[in-house]
Amino acid sequence: MKILVINGPSLNMLGIREPGIYGKRTYAELEKTIYDHCEKQGVTVEIYQSNHEGDIVDKIQAAYGVFDGIVINPAAYTHTSVAILDALKAVGIRTVEVHISDVDKREEFRRISYVGLYAEKTVKGIGFDGYIKAIEYLRNDGKD
Ligand code: DQA
Repeated sequence: MKILVINGPSLNMLGIREPGIYGKRTYAELEKTIYDHCEKQGVTVEIYQSNHEGDIVDKIQAAYGVFDGIVINPAAYTHTSVAILDALKAVGIRTVEVHISDVDKREEFRRISYVGLYAEKTVKGIGFDGYIKAIEYLRNDGKD
């Protein structure tokens, strides 16, 4: 199985960025957590991070016919991006949405998710484990 993990704006700043909300672990540690898990499970994974909406759209389009599943933390674009939603719908690849923090327990505007209108599942508020849970959900064909 081939999974593409996409991380949106400022997730590259993990470890520095609002540690009270996102924790002290770095983006490199997040990548390692995902790579180690996928290696153990025999999953082929690519991890991509961008601060640019259009680049994320391009990456999703390029995933067509290449990846079996997408795990995406669109970060701030979660709450604004119809373009990312439409790209996911265009390629039709199974998708799970992840948030490190519990977006429902924060500001009102974080409760809206455009990607959530397409994603099969949303995992939120369990830190880095959310990415592993999302990968396992895709591996197990939609079972937790
Ligand atoms: C986030 C939550 C978003 O509201 C925020 O804009 C982020 C990170 C999370 O992982 O908790 O950048 O997606």
